[in-house]
Order: sequence, then C-alpha cells, then structure tokens
Amino acid sequence: NEIYLQGYGGTAPPFTTDATRLEAAAAELMGPEAYSYVAGAAGSGATASANRAAFDRWRLVPRMLTDATERDLSSTVLGTPLPAPVLLAPVGVQSIVHADAERATARAAAALGLPVVLSTASSTSIEDVAEASGDGPRWFQLYWPNDPDVCGSILSRAREAGYTALVVTLDTWTLAWRPSDLDSGYLPFLQGEGMAVPFSDPVFRSRLDKAPEDDLPSAVLRWISMITGTDRGWDALAFLREHWDGPIALKGIQHPDDARRAADAGMDGVVVSNHGGRQVDGAVASLDVLPEIVAAVGDRLEVLFDSGVRTGADVVKALALGARAVLLGRPWVYGLAHGGEDGVRHVLRSLLADLDLTMGLSGHRRITELTPAVLRRA
Ligand code: FNR
Repeated sequence: NEIYLQGYGGTAPPFTTDATRLEAAAAELMGPEAYSYVAGAAGSGATASANRAAFDRWRLVPRMLTDATERDLSSTVLGTPLPAPVLLAPVGVQSIVHADAERATARAAAALGLPVVLSTASSTSIEDVAEASGDGPRWFQLYWPNDPDVCGSILSRAREAGYTALVVTLDTWTLAWRPSDLDSGYLPFLQGEGMAVPFSDPVFRSRLDKAPEDDLPSAVLRWISMITGTDRGWDALAFLREHWDGPIALKGIQHPDDARRAADAGMDGVVVSNHGGRQVDGAVASLDVLPEIVAAVGDRLEVLFDSGVRTGADVVKALALGARAVLLGRPWVYGLAHGGEDGVRHVLRSLLADLDLTMGLSGHRRITELTPAVLRRA
C-alpha cells in the first residue's frame, strides 16, 4: 500500500522496482569485476537462462470473487515463523558490492522479519552480522570444511550467535568453470574478501603457519583447500547432525533420489537449487525438477527452492509447485549495490508487494491455497 500511495501521490520510489532494469542499472554502478562475479554463471550461461525460461512455461489462472482483499502470507519454514515464505539466499563476498556489505543486508532483512542465510564466504564475521540482525531471524550456510575441528568451531560460533537453521551447500565442493571470474582472476577471493568467517576462527587460525594478516595468499589457499574435495558420502551427514541441534537443509539438490537420501539421513529440508546456474552449465532448470522432488519427499521434509526467482508471480509458481519457501539471490544484491541497506529493503519490499498483489489478483488469500491446481502449463 505504501509503495502505491507514494506512486499515486507522484513520488517515484528511490530505485526501480523492475528486476531487469535494476540489474542493468547495477551494472553501471558496480565495477566490472564485481558485476561479472554477481551476474556471472557457469560456462555458456545456459542453465542461468533455463532457470528463467522454466518460470515462463507455467501460467497462473486467476479466480474471481474470492474475497481476497485481505491476504495472509505468513508461514513457518524449518521452525522459523515468517511474514512471507521468502528468504535471502546465501551470497558471499558482499564487500565487493557495498562497503556496508552483510551488515546492511542483515539490517534490511531484519526490518522485514525475513531471514538472511549468512554465507560461510561472508566478508563480515558471524558475530558482527548477528549483531546487525537485531531481532531478525538468522540462518547460517555452511561450506563444509574437511577439518572436523574447524567445522565444529564454525558451527558452534553460529549457534552461539543465535543462528537457528543450517543450510549445507553441497553443489560447490569445487568452483565451477565460470569464464567471467576466470578472466578477472577471481580477484575477490585472492584479496581474501570472503574469508571473514575462517579468518576470525581460532581453530582455523591455529592451522596456519602465519596469521592471515602476515601471509594472505597462503591463508586463502589453505581455506580453499579445506572446503574443496569429494571424499565424502551421505554417511558424513551424521557429523553435522552431531554438531548442530537445529534444523538442517541440504542446498543444491536437483535429483529426487538425492532428496530421498537427504530424508533417509534425517535431514529436515532440501533446497532445490542449481546455485543460480553458477555451477553446472547445461544443468536442468531448478523449477523443472521441483515437482518431482516434492513428489518424492514432500511428506518427509521441507522442500525449499531457489534459482531464477525475480517476481511475485515466480514466487507464487514455485510455492504452487510445492516449495515451502523460496530463496532470492541476485536481485537484492543489486539493491545492495544501489543503496546499501535501503537498496536491499527496497528490493525485498517490492517483491513482497508484488507477491501480495499477485496472490490477491489471482484470488488467493493464503499460502496454503497455492497448489498445482492454480497453474496451467503454458
Ligand atoms: C551465490 N550463491 C551462494 N550460495 C551459497 O550456498 N553460498 C554462497 O556463498 C553463495 N554465494 C553466491 C554469490 C553470488 C554473487 C551469487 C549470485 C550467488 C548462490 C545463491 O545462494 C543462490 O543459490 C542463487 O543466487 C539463486 O539464484 P538467483 O536468485 O540468483 O537466480
């Protein structure tokens, strides 16, 4: 309402409310390396494009005279009560986008009651982001170190700092072939921008010959080598269960059998995601696998979704296809580039307003009314 009343009163919002224009404007604002890191995708970008195209193959079928003037978008996701089933996807290295970085994002999300999933590749420490989050809900994303003591230390810091749910990213056990980042020499990483979590960790620091302050390249390489590798199977999840007493979701699930394994391993959720098309070029669109994963495990754990969400209608479609909640990636990062905390808040409020209106105009009052029956295959 606020956004509309301002508009009717002739006051334009501070930044564009259109996701495509926001990205185009962000490209102008951000340096070329930062922009290509955020916008970039694996290989040819085919999967990133497929993520968007998949949404276009589903259409809403609006219903009339359903008394949808008042909507209630609230929901509970992995034990966290939310005003709407929308979360901020984990995004690392935010200092390359704006000086206030993860603190700005945390403040903006907390003001709306939405959780940020704090990345292990954060450029701000777990404790500092927790402080900026105030009373807002807090989730933590793990890039899983192969040193159990380092992993345990990071997890216990997150728990102590009030993070309730853990999202374990499985699809990035090594970085993909990302031409734009290769061309820019992975500058943010080599400068240690996304290393605040390990660099502030006493156990990680004890593994180094020299402090990161004294030998940055070695510290960066040590960390990268700790979070890359394949020598892990599904039984390794027991370690996480032992070290995390809240809900755990596995992110990067794209096959129903993997979702079944997650359920067999006692996980509480999965995030159906292809990392915004940033890992496997040519991988299936995330939305295209959502229905079969919901069919396989929807009664055993919570199925969350990301990759390609840009509009309120996208959120409605993903929820109708069985997602418990969606995670939003790049759009709020562009908001951060535009105006720090205000920019992130603007993007989130716009998406929530768009979602609310799309629900109402389609004739739905509550999230639970969204089922496949409200869609048609285009
Ligand atoms: C990411 N993503 C990501 N995922 C994760 O688990 N840990 C991380 O540190 C990051 N970092 C990251 C940085 C940037 C710049 C982007 C764009 C993405 C992936 C992210 O959580 C999410 O899966 C995708 O961004 C979702 O796709 P959309 O919404 O960007 O299309």
